[in-house]
Parts: sequence; structure tokens; C-alpha cells
Amino acid sequence: MPGEVNAPLVDAEPPIRWRVQVRVPSKINLFLGVRGLRDDGYHELVSVMQTVSIHDTVTAQIEGDHVARLHPASRRFVDLTFSQRAGAGVPDGEGNLAVRAARRLMQAVGIGSQAGEGTASSMTRLHLDKTIPVAAGMAGGSADAAATLLALNHLWGVDLDREELREIAAEVGSDVPFCVSGGTALATGTGTATAQVLTRGTYHWVVGISDRTLSTPEVYATYDRVGCPNPAEPDAVLQALRTGDQEALGAALSNDLEVAACHLRPDLEVSRDRMLRAGALGAIVSGSGPTLVALAESATAAADLAAEVADRFDRVEVATSPAGGPEVWADGA
Ligand code: C5P
Repeated sequence: MPGEVNAPLVDAEPPIRWRVQVRVPSKINLFLGVRGLRDDGYHELVSVMQTVSIHDTVTAQIEGDHVARLHPASRRFVDLTFSQRAGAGVPDGEGNLAVRAARRLMQAVGIGSQAGEGTASSMTRLHLDKTIPVAAGMAGGSADAAATLLALNHLWGVDLDREELREIAAEVGSDVPFCVSGGTALATGTGTATAQVLTRGTYHWVVGISDRTLSTPEVYATYDRVGCPNPAEPDAVLQALRTGDQEALGAALSNDLEVAACHLRPDLEVSRDRMLRAGALGAIVSGSGPTLVALAESATAAADLAAEVADRFDRVEVATSPAGGPEVWADGA
């Protein structure tokens, strides 16, 4: 009958999501050049970042009377709790970058954190499932923050686009905008301005993880004391990525913060040299460390190399890059 099948759904409610999960990769710096100290205490950087296949999963879930509370008119007040099933050293509560990201998103879109009288409110729980090493130079906290922004954007039906989310991300931390997008990027400024770069092939890494963490501010402060200006540009890394040339990439890996990380942890230099002697195409401290990453020519070579250097680390992983970007799943709709 006319109108029966194709009746317009003018009164349709937006889809309701009760639980959203985001699986987010970590990153390594293939190139990190420090270009000077700014007045605000941050450093001007040129960096090439690539996602690597060690992931965290962030779950965001609404509890309570979902249907009424997700309606736009009653969505203004949200309480947030936080739980984690993670290793030692993960900051709890408000100290965690994921919680700070949630607060920042709430501020940006006008969601309050205190329920008003007579106003429907809802409880959103965040759960971090961590594999990315903590305070290790692999953007674990930043990845969780980015995943939280994406998860809550879906869960709360906020519907900001990626660019809007990246703007909020930049206020949470220098690596967070990159983690929202993933892939491979050239980062400038304090690291928040990123442009995707062309990359070919898959790279095999041995990731050497240490339980003794390094503080990023301390590594930068140490760089200010012991680092030397290095005019190197990322061109060789970008060229190697464009052509998928593993050997050229191994030779071009460069990190100005390495000297500072090794100053604080001289054992890192010994471990890096062991990786090189064991056949790595290149080996480098990732970001502000203390994680070391070594490039191998194949998955088999990476497994062999990992076995050979395992005694130098608390944990050794074999991983590949690039590892795409965050992946979002929603259920309960
Ligand atoms: O931005 P984020 O909170 O991740 O930075 C952590 C610390 O790293 C900053 O407090 C600062 O000490 C240092 N940093 C810097 N210059 C940058 C990025 C980070 O000095 N471009």
C-alpha cells in the first residue's frame, strides 16, 4: 500500500549506544628532532610518528536508565568513574590522561559533571585494558586519551568530527592528536600539528620494555642540559618510508632525546648496541624512552632478535608497523 513501506521516519530517535569499545595502537618515533625551547616550557619539534601493533582497549559504558538518559534534552549531566586492569604505574582517577580527555570533551560540548536537581543524569564508566607499556615513550597514556575521546563521542552521541576531536586532543597532550588519527605522520610545533605521510610496506620491530619508567618532563629537562643542536632533517626517514626501503629506514632512525634518556639510564645505550650487534637494521630509543625499538628485516628475524636480546629487558615484544588507527565498536544500539 502506498506510504506503508516507504513512510519517512521523521520521528526516529538517534541510535542509542550503551557500550563503545576502542582498540588503539601505540606509537614509535622514527625521527624526533628537538628544535629549541619555547617560552611556555615546551619544545619545538619535528617528528615522524608511526603506529605499532601493541594495543590498549578502552571501554566506555553507560549505566542506569539508558534510554531516557541518552535523550539530548537530558544528556547534560554525566558522572564519570574510572577503573583499570593494568600494570603498575598507571595513574589513577583524575591523574589519568583518559579521564582528563573525558573532562575536556564534557567541557567542550557543555556536559556538566554534577547532576542538577530534577535532571536526569547518567553514569559513564571507563575501563582501560592496557598492553602498551606505561611511561615508556610509546604514547600509552595519549593513546588511551584519544580512544576515550572517540569512545565518548560515539557513546554520548556528541558527533564531533575527527578534526574537532583533534582540537580537543591537542589540549590534553602533545601526542594525543596523532593518536586520534594513527597511521604515519610528520608532526611539527609541539607535536600537535600532524600531516599524514606516504608509507609503503610493513616493518618488523623488536620492542624492548623496561619496568623502570622515565618521566617525559625529566627527559626533556635533561636534553636542555646535555643535548647538542642537531641539524638533521627527517628527509631520509620520509624517503625510506615512501619507497618501503627497510635498510634505509634502519640507517635513518634518529632521536634527539636519546642522548638524554641514555644520560638518565646508561644501560639503554648498552642494550641498544646489543640489538645492533645482534643484527638489527637500526635501533633507537622511542620518544622519551626508556623503550628501545629495533628494526628487523622479517618477522622471523624479529623473533630471533627478540630471543637474543631478551635478557636485557623486563619484557620483549615483537610488533609490526604501521598499525592503522583506533578502531571503534559500538553495541547495545
Ligand atoms: O604534552 P604532554 O603532556 O604529553 O607533554 C609531557 C611533557 O613533555 C611536558 O610537560 C613537557 O615537559 C614535555 N614536552 C616538551 N615539548 C613538547 C612536548 C612535550 O617539552 N613538544
